Amino acid sequence: MDKERIEERIRLGRSFITKLVKEEPVGDDYKSDQELKKPQPPLTKAAMTEHATALPFDFFGLAPIGDFLTIVNERKSHRVYTDESISLTQLSYLLWCTQGVKSVRGKAYATIRTVPSGGARHPFECYMAVRKVEGLKPGLYHYLPMSHEIEFLSGMEDLKSFITESLCGQSWAEKASVVFYYSCVFYRAEWRYGVVAHAPVLMDSGHVTQNLYLAATSIGLGGCAIAAVEPEIADRAFTLDGVEETVFYAMPVGTVRPSDREAENEFYAFVKKEGL
Ligand SMILES: Cc1cc2nc3c(=O)[nH]c(=O)nc-3n(C[C@H](O)[C@H](O)[C@H](O)COP(=O)(O)O)c2cc1C
Repeated sequence: MDKERIEERIRLGRSFITKLVKEEPVGDDYKSDQELKKPQPPLTKAAMTEHATALPFDFFGLAPIGDFLTIVNERKSHRVYTDESISLTQLSYLLWCTQGVKSVRGKAYATIRTVPSGGARHPFECYMAVRKVEGLKPGLYHYLPMSHEIEFLSGMEDLKSFITESLCGQSWAEKASVVFYYSCVFYRAEWRYGVVAHAPVLMDSGHVTQNLYLAATSIGLGGCAIAAVEPEIADRAFTLDGVEETVFYAMPVGTVRPSDREAENEFYAFVKKEGL
């Protein structure tokens, strides 16, 4: 990429964050599809199969490691997992804490969830590569937040390779018990916010993964947010078109132990090596 193009890409990246407001004000005559009274898209994606499994709701047995401040202070990115199974209740808890629907606003105007979202649009779907969850066969799954169920989409012959390839070669994630893949259904946000919908989508996604970090930490599990995703590989696996809906964020979660702290630090060995 030549210098001019790099500068152009940087400028575009910055204006994405500022929503091009200065460069190209939308003007008073601009109206979003919501303002134009166009029909609202569905609040969540419909089930993709007929194989839904109800998730347990009894989280009281999942003894938290401590109070809220302890959990916040303990949160860190974990990339070393002990390759053990988590329980279905633990998976259910992680899904509830990140995308669970607590109520519906109006007749069917918005979902109110355990995370906030600009305009309560909640433009995400959550897919999973399940490796080791008690009671679930390994494979690809989709969360149905309205009914708090998961549906089995398909098996995957080489789940470990899929995980590594879909996460840009980050093979450490292969030992996670489950990898969460978040897609964005763009029009859910665009219907309300039109041309300025996209930066808030990324703001929304931070709430989801922060809750996932904290929920995992609270029950002694560990995970690591991942932006380095290969959307084409993940979209193909979860049968997404990559245009209206695409995977853009992921997070492996697995079982961890304190004695792996040294191994965890290896991921940052370059800091010392390069004298940073
Ligand atoms: C948006 C986002 C993207 C990230 N992407 C990756 C990634 O692709 N690979 C990785 O190993 N860590 C990734 N991380 C983890 C960060 O490297 C980590 O949060 C950071 O080093 C601080 O460490 P801590 O989370 O333990 O406080 C990501 C974190 C965030 C929030």
